[in-house]
Amino acid sequence: MARTPLPMRPTGWFQVAWSAEIGVNDVHRMTYFGTDMIAWRSASGKVTVMDAYCEHLGAHLGFGGTVDGEILRCPFHGWEWNRQGRNVCIPYEKNPNRGRRIRTYPVTEHSESIFIWYDADRREPYFPVAEALSGFDDGRSAADYYPAHGHSTLFEQSVEIHPQYVMENGVDFAHFKYVHNTPLVPEFTRHDFDQPVSYVDFTIAFDDVPADEINSGVQAINSGIGVASTKSWGMIDNRTQTCVTPIDETTSDVRFTVWIGRKPGDTSDQPTSRALAHAAGVIEQFGNDIHIWKHQRYSDPPALSPAEFAGFTAIRAWATQFYPADFDQTAAVAAAR
Ligand code: FES
Ligand SMILES: [Fe+2]
Repeated sequence: MARTPLPMRPTGWFQVAWSAEIGVNDVHRMTYFGTDMIAWRSASGKVTVMDAYCEHLGAHLGFGGTVDGEILRCPFHGWEWNRQGRNVCIPYEKNPNRGRRIRTYPVTEHSESIFIWYDADRREPYFPVAEALSGFDDGRSAADYYPAHGHSTLFEQSVEIHPQYVMENGVDFAHFKYVHNTPLVPEFTRHDFDQPVSYVDFTIAFDDVPADEINSGVQAINSGIGVASTKSWGMIDNRTQTCVTPIDETTSDVRFTVWIGRKPGDTSDQPTSRALAHAAGVIEQFGNDIHIWKHQRYSDPPALSPAEFAGFTAIRAWATQFYPADFDQTAAVAAAR
């Protein structure tokens, strides 16, 4: 395995859990970006993500901290912290400590997922996370898909993958034939890397059809470097969401979610066996990608074919906006060898 030379504290939105994993009153422990964090859901249903340690004497709030309404109570001396990370009560003093604050992270929740905004310089979010089910401006919404959590997700923990590897997969037309066994390589119809949220569309067929008769494809929205959503068209209606969240300087968690379009008229949340089988097939294909990524060494400069040049150059230039301004990629690549 090869340690990535790319920065593991990129700026952007990153999935830290599926919504169903954190119920009301739950306190969930996690480590991302080299930082111990907790996520807790208050009575109003809102999720707060904050650093894990109490600002009083440093208890880890994920070991015995309790949610009470809209506050989190520390197990050590009962200090109460609100959703903004402010101390609102010291049970044995008249006043709270107004000066100390636990670092909190902007949170957004949709697509059965909890995302946090991470920025090493603590800037506020400056782009959104596209919604996988309603974000493609085609009138579709969550009601048109079976829920995914519990049966149509993949969670690969602590793998040596950088988020950029997964984004590059979207412009990598040649791998489809070898990793996904498609009969033809896809034809790109859109590469739009002008903004932090970028777009890639291509036509592709997973069955053997003549090249001039392909009537199916994929649209992708990359919400920064950490979250990629796709919509398939002209084939079984599915949406996917791929999220790579750095844990430390070498490893990331990968979460993959697949939604299958509902059978017309079916209002049950239980997918049909056909839908489940299709989701399993999509997850299996994604597993083939992961198998490559987790053993890959980042190649820079890569030996690109002429046809690959535009796509890879565009996505790599786009990715640098999420990295620290002083990041020297050439030096980092040389040091990682
Ligand atoms: S360490 Fe949290 S209240 Fe004392
Ligand atoms: Fe792939």
